[in-house]
Amino acid sequence: MQKNKFFVPETELAEQNEYKKKVKNIVKSRFQQETPKAFVHTYGCQGNVADSEHIKGQLIEMGYSMTEELQSADIIIYNTCAIREHAEDRVFGNVGALKTLKKKNPNLVIGLCGCMMQQDHIAEKIKNSYPYVNLVFGTHALHKLPELLFKVFKTKKRVFSIEECDGVIAEGMPNERDSGENAWLPIMYGCDNFCSYCVVPYVRGRERSREADVVLKEAEALIKEGYKKITLLGQNVNSYGKSLENGINFSELVRRLDKIEGDYTFDFMTSHPKDCTKELIDVLASSEHFCGHLHLPVQSGNNRVLKEMNRKYTREHYLDLVNYAKEKIPQVDITTDIIVGFPGETYEEFLDTVSLVKEVKYGSMFTFIYSKRKGTKAADFPDEITKEEKTKWFMELLKVQEEITKEQ
Ligand code: 5AD
Ligand code: SF4
Repeated sequence: MQKNKFFVPETELAEQNEYKKKVKNIVKSRFQQETPKAFVHTYGCQGNVADSEHIKGQLIEMGYSMTEELQSADIIIYNTCAIREHAEDRVFGNVGALKTLKKKNPNLVIGLCGCMMQQDHIAEKIKNSYPYVNLVFGTHALHKLPELLFKVFKTKKRVFSIEECDGVIAEGMPNERDSGENAWLPIMYGCDNFCSYCVVPYVRGRERSREADVVLKEAEALIKEGYKKITLLGQNVNSYGKSLENGINFSELVRRLDKIEGDYTFDFMTSHPKDCTKELIDVLASSEHFCGHLHLPVQSGNNRVLKEMNRKYTREHYLDLVNYAKEKIPQVDITTDIIVGFPGETYEEFLDTVSLVKEVKYGSMFTFIYSKRKGTKAADFPDEITKEEKTKWFMELLKVQEEITKEQ
């Protein structure tokens, strides 16, 4: 029974399994006794890492073995990230470098997928300027890799699959995990928050949750297999369950996860301060397996900037949450994300972020200079501070954090 509109129907998954067999046959006749090699590289966040594990799983089922060596690969897939311009530039640079490999081996299949590819202007650029790329697919077409690869082999034409949609959940995909004792466990996909600087809601679709019993069964299996750390993944894990009929909330999911017996800890990311509840902190405080790490991205310590970012919480609300967490979980390691130089931010407003950082004393921080993302609200905001000036602020913040780390 399919319980919500996001689930890929079982018939469609069965169809993909048929394509897997077809690709496997093509690959077998092409490579004869040799096993063809696949190189999959992941840019960006753990969500992408988890997606790549599905890509690798599917490739293995189609007869490939994984390689870490780009030069010896028969298929190369780059799973891309669109969060900042720098991430995109790196992808373009690395794709450009594949031209010579393709010249040496015209049978090489080059595929690009992930968040960058879900944007029309990027797919267009690949179409026009990178003719040696065979396959481009967006974030919603991951489970269709067998069909797309089949088309690449059969038609010998370039294949693009980047249709717009609200997003899908494809259960039962194979998983080739390669993160040692850590297992990534996606519990939800997409984001509905539309923070004004962020491209994620445009490339990852609407917020949608996996069924709790499926998630918990997967966690149980991973723990049995010997994984020592389970990290629950989602753009905003605190709104877990909202897309499900009779779904449980994140606190309840965590409570049930914690009941699974075994030698493991759990972590989760990312928490949104507007949805992170004291109920959740209470659950974490009394749980046996919580690893003690709470990633709570603040982005800015200034209320006007937070409002412009559409974060929907205030500095005071954030600090109240942090203080509650510190009180209930004395050893808690709080980490954060911060954006420096948001359009319109003044130096005085930036200093509010500095003072918040000094007050919270983070275990570590991920600090970014604002990067304009096409299609987002903030891309239209006036932005008068120069990159040089923003870099100075950025360095100032890093110094503050260094001092805090030294003291800890
Ligand atoms: N510019 C800079 N940093 C960004 N992030 C998201 N979008 C942007 C952007 N346009 C940062 C946020 C988020 C993290 C994953 O990336 O801090 O929490
Ligand atoms: Fe982006 Fe905000 Fe969603 Fe995080 S919560 S992915 S920053 S829109």
